[in-house]
Amino acid sequence: MAIERTLSIIKPDAVNKNIIGKIYSRFESNGLKIVAAKMVYLSEREAEGFYAVHRERPFFRDLVKFMTSGPVMVQVLEGENAIAKNRDLMGATDPKKAAPGTIRADFASSIDANAVHGSDSPETAAVEIAYFFPSSEIYSR
Ligand code: PPS
Repeated sequence: MAIERTLSIIKPDAVNKNIIGKIYSRFESNGLKIVAAKMVYLSEREAEGFYAVHRERPFFRDLVKFMTSGPVMVQVLEGENAIAKNRDLMGATDPKKAAPGTIRADFASSIDANAVHGSDSPETAAVEIAYFFPSSEIYSR
């Protein structure tokens, strides 16, 4: 299986709940290696740029407002099938629909405050990783 990289964000609700370590532990115990990481307090412009693909969606302003409400933890995860594996670990966007044992089922409270973001395809992962990290800040084995 291919070794992939994906972008993960621990959102303001989860940072505020002091569960960065618990979420990192899920990544690490499921074969995902953290190869870059930083805490960022997104500006409105940065959040709008990151979520530009959702610009026309009705929840766009709420999403930007939420993502700029406090610091986030941004990381690059690397491992076999990392993109799909991270999405599986995250669970469905709406925590009410997320499978038991997933990060969102266990830690998220609503569809907007849903604890984590993860890239959804190799193309998106490449764009999203480059949005936050120059290649010189990614430390692969
Ligand atoms: S996904 O994963 O891209 O298919 O999910 P999608 O449903 O398209 O949602 C895209 C992102 O928007 C967030 N979202 C919302 N924010 C605020 N309010 C509402 N109602 C809402 N619905 C969806 C959702 O959490 C996704 O954020 P990310 O960071 O990509 O997970």
